[in-house]
Order: sequence, then structure tokens, then C-alpha cells
Amino acid sequence: MKKVALAGIIVSLGLLGACSQGNSDISSNKGMKGMDHSSMNMEGMDHTNMNHETITELKSSLGENELTYPYVLKPDQMNYNTISYTIRAQQGTSEIFDGIKTKTYGYNGDFLGPVIRVQKGMNVTIHLVNDLQEDTTFHWHGLEIPGNEDGGPHKVLKPGETETIHFTVQQDAATLWFHPHPMHETGKQVFKGLAGLLYIDDKNSEMLNIPKTYGVDDLPIILQDKTFTDDKQLVYDKVMNEDGTSGDTLLINGVVDPKLTVDRKKVRLRILNGSNMRSYTLHFNNDMEFQQIASDGGFLNEPNTTKEIEVAPGERAEVIVDLTKVNGNEVSLVNEDNKTILPIHLKGTVNNSKTTETVYQLNSVNATDEMKNKKVTKTIKLAGMMNNVTINNKKFDPNRIDFIQKQNETEVWEIENVKDAMGGMNHPFHIHGTQFQVVSVDGKEPPANLSGLKDTISLKPGQTAKIAVKFTHKGIYMYHCHILEHEDNGMMGQIKVE
Ligand code: C2O
Ligand code: CU
Ligand code: CU
Repeated sequence: MKKVALAGIIVSLGLLGACSQGNSDISSNKGMKGMDHSSMNMEGMDHTNMNHETITELKSSLGENELTYPYVLKPDQMNYNTISYTIRAQQGTSEIFDGIKTKTYGYNGDFLGPVIRVQKGMNVTIHLVNDLQEDTTFHWHGLEIPGNEDGGPHKVLKPGETETIHFTVQQDAATLWFHPHPMHETGKQVFKGLAGLLYIDDKNSEMLNIPKTYGVDDLPIILQDKTFTDDKQLVYDKVMNEDGTSGDTLLINGVVDPKLTVDRKKVRLRILNGSNMRSYTLHFNNDMEFQQIASDGGFLNEPNTTKEIEVAPGERAEVIVDLTKVNGNEVSLVNEDNKTILPIHLKGTVNNSKTTETVYQLNSVNATDEMKNKKVTKTIKLAGMMNNVTINNKKFDPNRIDFIQKQNETEVWEIENVKDAMGGMNHPFHIHGTQFQVVSVDGKEPPANLSGLKDTISLKPGQTAKIAVKFTHKGIYMYHCHILEHEDNGMMGQIKVE
């Protein structure tokens, strides 16, 4: 049997590392010294002296439930280049645990949301309906869309309200997502289940010889960690942590203790980290290589062959895993501490005819020299922890515009995660309405996994990145830390594109 254990759980290395730097009481703890994550032993750590909360330890998937996939939403109407959908935020109950009803939120259903699938070039209309008993917004994470349609905290729909938005898809194939963004409530609403996928297809994605049959060899993998109460409810107030809410229970696509049973061939995993704060560094328990083919904003130029991949909150990574390379019938996707994320069971014997060939060229996105040599014109300093988090020493003010940029003009932003006396923690920095290119990280060429289009970049304490940012539409957009509690605590600013 082959088990693919997605080792995703070890996430918050940066935070743990930060603790060791910031608190001399624990610097004697050998496991943490030197921030060598690979040797860190979470069980052995002494948390008692830390002056901020650490991350909840994640339990391994017991592999009891077959993974399911969100359904692909049927359009209300479609002709050759126009398409319309209705998206309804609603509350309901789901049977996440056998025989138990958990109160949840979802889009067009009880928990999570469907996949919306659109083609590049299409004119899209979406009817938004708030059937919740609280305010919400509908934000399109990664989509290049006019500020007014982007669903930031200004675009609140009250209970019972509806709105219709229109946009034309102008960007390349990518795995994007949507989630709520109401001020101070994003963390709670995502935790309760509001999150869905938005796939963009284009000629390139349809031509490439890669797995692309949804639910068969092209599989969404939405990673989220949650803590349930003893009676298996999701009570945000009970588990909320100002520094980011982590959970002990992993859900993939809303399934607890997931397993994947699949043909022995190449599969494509479209990983979305939809967790409130946890990062995952994933590898396979047999240490096999796999290929990352896409990041947040679409395909990398060429596949990035690797043995592990980090996915921070808000980020996506698409990988191709060649399951014909597995000895036996099981392999598991695991995280840094070798906790099982997803056991994979392989059906049948090797059938190479079912396996697609290796693709060498996927895309042609380039950071030009002009871009690389541009002066930095916007500086972002991310700082703090708990509810002291700030950007450029400020908390979010809905009435303050922090930056202005011209439509279609590229500017280089410098993003710094400021290390403070406490050490600090990782902050995944996200900008709405754009896909940016990473010019450098700490003055060096970005690594392969950051070489494509990105909308979120996770920085460790002390790290600085330069990114080339262009907005193709006008309007007001948010930028913020994608640790949802940091965002809710005001680690957010706004830019006006005109
Ligand atoms: Cu995914 Cu402002 O968010
Ligand atoms: Cu966003
Ligand atoms: Cu943060």
C-alpha cells in the first residue's frame, strides 16, 4: 500500500524561532536553538516561559474518511463569453464527524464553498447574497478586479442584502479563492467555513500536457486547521488567539482525518492554505521529489523540482506528484514534524499510459531588468505581535488612504518584517487586486517557488523583499497580513489606484 502523507503541519517555524530569540529563558532549550527547524522537536519544547501563545499542535490524519471535493458551481447563464453565477453566504449544519451536527457557514451550501470556474476573456457577473445573520463581504483573493468589486471591508452586505458585480477576466490561468473580509470578523467567518475556490482557465492551461480532470487527477486540497469544542462545534471565541488562531484538527476540503484513494499515475494537487494562521511545510514520507508547477498567480515558467514546499496562509501552490514512482501502495503527505496530513492509497499497478509526460515549459513570466533596477517607491514595515501588530507603525483606518499608485504603472515596494526585541513572527503579506513579481529577497534573486506571479509573500522576522507591483484596475485596495487575526487587529492598509 502506498500512503502519501502530506506532512503539512509543522508550520509555524518562524514563530517558534522567534520565541527562542526573544526569551532568554528558553534559549537553553536545545531543540529550538539556532532556528534549525528540521531538528526541532515540538513535543520536547518547554512552552511555559514564552510570553506569547505558541501554535497548537496538529494531530496526524487517521485516514478514516475519503477526501471529497467541492462541486463545480453551475452558472446561472452562459454563452460564448459571458457567464453569471449566484453566490450565497449562508449558515447551516454539516456532519463533519459521524452522527454529529456541527454548526457551520458556507457558500451555496453548509460548509466551505463550490469551485467557480471561469475562462480568461470572459465577462463575469456574480450575484452576491448575504443569507447570514451578520454582515459579510465577498472578497476575490488574487483576482485583478476593479477596487469597487473586490469585496474589501468597505463593501459590506447586511443580512438579507444582495449586490451584483461584473468583471472581465484578464489574467492568466490560476487557482484563486474567495472569502469574506468584514472588518474584525474575517477570522471568525473563515473559521466557521466561508471559503471557496475560483479557477481561471486559459488556452495555455488547456493545452499543457498536465493532469486536468477535476476530481480525478486534478485535485483541490484546501488545508485548514480548526479546534472543535468537546461537543464538536466551531466556537471561534473559545479558541481565538490574537496572534493567529491555530487548531489541532486538520481538515482538507472540510473532511477530517482525510485519505486519498487514487490511480497510480501523475496527479496534480492544487493546494490552498485557507487556515487562519498556520503555515504548512509539506513533504512526502518517502522523501520523494515532486514538481511545483504554479504559485498564487499561475504557472511558473518551468516546473520547480523539490522535496518540500511551504504554503503560508492565503497562498496557493500547485504540484504534480508522480505516483508511479512510489514503491508499494501507500505514501503520505506529511508536514515538518512528520505529522500525517494526507495518507494516499494507490489503486492498481503501474500504468504508464495513464501518465502524462514531463512538461518543461509552462509559462513565460519574467522579471525584467527594468523592473529589477527600479527605485523603491513604497516601503512597508510589518511589525508586532498579538494586538500590537502594525504596518508602518499604524493600525488600519478605513478613512485613511495610505498610498496612491497609478493604474498600469509598475512600482517597486519594499516589504520588511521588522525584527523586534521579542523576535517577531512570520507575516504573510498580501495585496488585493494584483499579482506581483518578487524582485529580490534579502537582496538576492528569489528562490524558484517565488519566481512566478504572487499575491502573498510570507516573510520571516528580519527578512526584506522587493516586489514589483502593478494594478491593472482602479479603485481602493487593501494590503495586509494574511494571518486573519492580524488583519482583524488592524495590520492592514489601503492603497488608492487612480
Ligand atoms: Cu485573502 Cu484581504 O485577503
Ligand atoms: Cu485578497
Ligand atoms: Cu501577521
